[in-house]
Amino acid sequence: TSSTLSFTVTERTDRASEADRAAVLANPGFGQRFTDHMVLATWRKGEGWGDARVTAYGPLQLEPSAAVLHYAQEIFEGMKAYRHADGSVWTFRPEANAARFARSAHRLALPAMEEADFLGSLRALVETDIDWVPDATTGESSLYLRPFMFASEAFLGVRPANEVTYCLIASPAGSYFASGLKPVSLWISEHYSRAGVGGTGAAKCGGNYAASLAAQIEAAEHGCDQSVFLDSLEQKYIEELGGMNVFLVYRDGRLVTPELSGSILEGVTRSSILELAKDLDLEPEERRISLEEWRAGAESGEITEAFACGTAAVVTPVGRLVWNGGEVRTGPQGEGGEVATKIREALLDIQTGRTEDTRGWLT
Ligand code: COI
Repeated sequence: TSSTLSFTVTERTDRASEADRAAVLANPGFGQRFTDHMVLATWRKGEGWGDARVTAYGPLQLEPSAAVLHYAQEIFEGMKAYRHADGSVWTFRPEANAARFARSAHRLALPAMEEADFLGSLRALVETDIDWVPDATTGESSLYLRPFMFASEAFLGVRPANEVTYCLIASPAGSYFASGLKPVSLWISEHYSRAGVGGTGAAKCGGNYAASLAAQIEAAEHGCDQSVFLDSLEQKYIEELGGMNVFLVYRDGRLVTPELSGSILEGVTRSSILELAKDLDLEPEERRISLEEWRAGAESGEITEAFACGTAAVVTPVGRLVWNGGEVRTGPQGEGGEVATKIREALLDIQTGRTEDTRGWLT
C-alpha cells in the first residue's frame, strides 16, 4: 500500500545542546532521555488519519476525560535504529512491527494504520533526529523507537474512541538491565497471571505491562530481576517474562521456546532467533514447556542455559530460577553461557552491520 500521510516537519528545535546530546549518547541507559522531535497524527471517525507532523518533543495536551486514561485503549511498539560503521542508519525488520501494530490495533478496537504510513513515520523521525542515533559499532547502543496509539477522545462511555492519537518518540538506548550482560534471576509468579485465554496477551498493549507489575514487585522482594508468567488455565506451562520472551538451551542442541499460545507476545527478536538458530547448528523448537520440565532439566544438567530476549533486552542470560521455597541454577552464574552469547552476537552482527544482511532484515 502507498503512504497516505506526509509527516512534514512543522516545528524544529534544538532542545538539547550538542554537548548534552554527546553525553547522553556516551551512556544512554534505557528510556530516560528523548530526542528533540516526535511524530503526531490524529484519526477521527468518518475522516480517517490526518494532521500528520513532526514537531518538537514535549508534553501532550489531554482532557482529563480522555478515554485512554480510564479504559486503557492503547497499543505500542518497540524497535531500534542502528548506526553502522559507514555512518548509515538502519532499522531491523520494521515491517514485522508494522504488522504486529496492526494486529494489536484490531484487538484493542483502534483504527488500522497503513504499513507505509507506519514506516513513513519512522523514517521521518529518524531523519529529523539522525544525530541522536548512537554509534552501534562498539557495543550495542541504538536509538529505541517507540510508536504508540491511544484513545484521545474526551468521553467516558465504554466504546471504541472516535478520536485517536498516534505518536512516535525516540530514545537513545544501551543495555536494558542496569547490570548489563550479567545473568538475571527469575521469580516464578504463582499468584498472578499476565494474560488469559481470549484476552489481550498477544497484543502489545499497555494494560498487559500494568498487569505484570505486581508480580515484578514480588520478584524484587525475592531478590529477582523479572517474573516468569505461567499459563492462566493450569498455572503449569511457561509463557513469558512480561516484557520479554524466554528460551531454554538443551545439552543436545535443542533450543526451545514456548509456542504461541494466544496469550504470549510474538516477539520479533524471538522469531529472528528461531530463524538464526538453524545457521548456528541448533535445533529450534516451539512447544509447551512445563515449569517442572525446566526445574528438572536445570537440576539434571539437561538444560544447560536459559535466556530472555526482546528488542529492549536483546539476549539476556538467566542464571537462577527462584520460587517460593527453592531455587535452581539454570545457566552459568558470572557471565552468559556459550549458546546465549553466540546467538546474541549473531543477532547484533546483523543489526549493527558487522556481517552481511542476507535475509533482507534491514531497512
Ligand atoms: C521491547 O523489547 O521493546 C519491549 O517491549 C520491552 C519493554 C521495554 C516494554
